Amino acid sequence: MINSMDRSDIILIVDDNPANLGVLSDFLDDTGYEVWVAKSGYMALQRIEYALPDLILLDIMMPGMDGFEICSYLKNKAETCEIPVIFMTTLSDTESKVKGLNFGAVDYITKPFQQEEVLARIKLHLKLYKLMQQVAEQNQVLEERVQERTFKINQMMEELKKMQVQLIQNEKMSSLGQMVAGVAHEINNPINFIYGNLSPAEEYIENLLSLIGMYQVYYPEPYAEIKAYQEDIELEFLREDLIKLLSSMKVGATRILEIVKSLRIFSHFDEAEIKQVDIHEGIDSTLMILQNRLKAKPEHPRIEVIKEYGNLLEVECYPGQLNQVFMNLLSNAIDAIEEFSSKLSREEIQAHPGKIRIYTNLNNYDEVVIKIADNGMGMTEEVCSQMFNPFFTTKPIGKGTGMGLAISYSIVVDKHGGKLECNSKLNSGTEFVIKIPRNRDSINNNSRSYVQSDNSHQNSPASSVIQ
Ligand SMILES: Nc1ncnc2c1ncn2[C@@H]1O[C@H](COP(=O)(O)OP(=O)(O)OP(=O)(O)O)[C@@H](O)[C@H]1O
Ligand SMILES: [Mg+2]
Repeated sequence: MINSMDRSDIILIVDDNPANLGVLSDFLDDTGYEVWVAKSGYMALQRIEYALPDLILLDIMMPGMDGFEICSYLKNKAETCEIPVIFMTTLSDTESKVKGLNFGAVDYITKPFQQEEVLARIKLHLKLYKLMQQVAEQNQVLEERVQERTFKINQMMEELKKMQVQLIQNEKMSSLGQMVAGVAHEINNPINFIYGNLSPAEEYIENLLSLIGMYQVYYPEPYAEIKAYQEDIELEFLREDLIKLLSSMKVGATRILEIVKSLRIFSHFDEAEIKQVDIHEGIDSTLMILQNRLKAKPEHPRIEVIKEYGNLLEVECYPGQLNQVFMNLLSNAIDAIEEFSSKLSREEIQAHPGKIRIYTNLNNYDEVVIKIADNGMGMTEEVCSQMFNPFFTTKPIGKGTGMGLAISYSIVVDKHGGKLECNSKLNSGTEFVIKIPRNRDSINNNSRSYVQSDNSHQNSPASSVIQ
């Protein structure tokens, strides 16, 4: 592009009168302008197609296209609308002057021409035109800068939001994980100790009872004092009850052992790195922790959990974090069922007991698919569109922080290269679908496979998932 400072300004004169053309072009040429001439409107437009002048001197009365037509054509075209047009009229033709200005001309000059006046007007309008161009260019630069900055600010805001989510996630994870792991660790030793001693204790007690039995056989008539004591302690009842008591202690201890094991699996506290694990163990341990919330309450019957586990083999993942996802999705499901129950009558609740269905499988893309569906409240489209946003909650203050799904999304998508999708219908239920590649290799080597969706399982309306 030629720099405007390096070249002379170009003036296009459009006039069908050769005498006028000659006078003007010679004079402007001598003044140092580059002059183009056109003898008709048609030729002028042809010339402009080829290259643009800096100013146009335009005669009004011409055969074919007249000056007004040309002017209106130029003003309606984006490339030419800014070029200043000066009409050439006769001194007495006031009507044409006004009309020309209305058509977008910047000025007029009158025939016969006063050379000094023509030159002054041309100079003025060229100057104005250039100033306008400069302003437009500066505006463009400014706009680009503003856009660039806005983009950067938006990027930074996104980063900041991500960081916040990450921080809260770490905090939530580590405080919950630490507590669970700490409690589990503290209980683990004593309960193992109790459980381990129960069997020998049972054996010793059986031995002692056998010994008492033998005494009774060989000394059927004990001293009166012994006889009185036997009756006092209800020896026969004690004998039967002690065995029952021991076996119920065993059941209780076994249960505590299971809970401790679940807590340890759930927290996976010391396992920050990726591991091959059985995902079902994680889901089961989460359910174990949530047992209390699933139990029958005065407000609703027990929430039934239907497990449809497929054969997942071992999955490469961050187990502690994935358990956090299960915890969030399952607690949300329980909340949604409880909220729905609170809106139903007692009879309606009996006819519509809360259910959570957990389905797992491997799909054709070697992705682990985990679906967690409930028949609770469901969501409106508006809630659906915002649920993954950090701090979005519909729960009362103090009940929900609105971070559960934001954290879960970041764990599934960012940490595991997977997907977290949701199908929900108001007053019918909700289904969350987690998909994560079974092996980390497939994230790097076969990124297409985990991006594609698996239509055979997806998009099933929540109502058909759980009845
Ligand atoms: N299974 C579900 N059924 C109906 N609504 C749901 C379900 N899961 C999530 N939601 C909606 O999405 C919102 C956001 O869920 P999210 O888990 O992020 O936050 P929260 O449960 O409100 O708070 P918390 O941070 O304690 O988990 C919920 O407030 C609820 O409105
Ligand atoms: Mg939640």
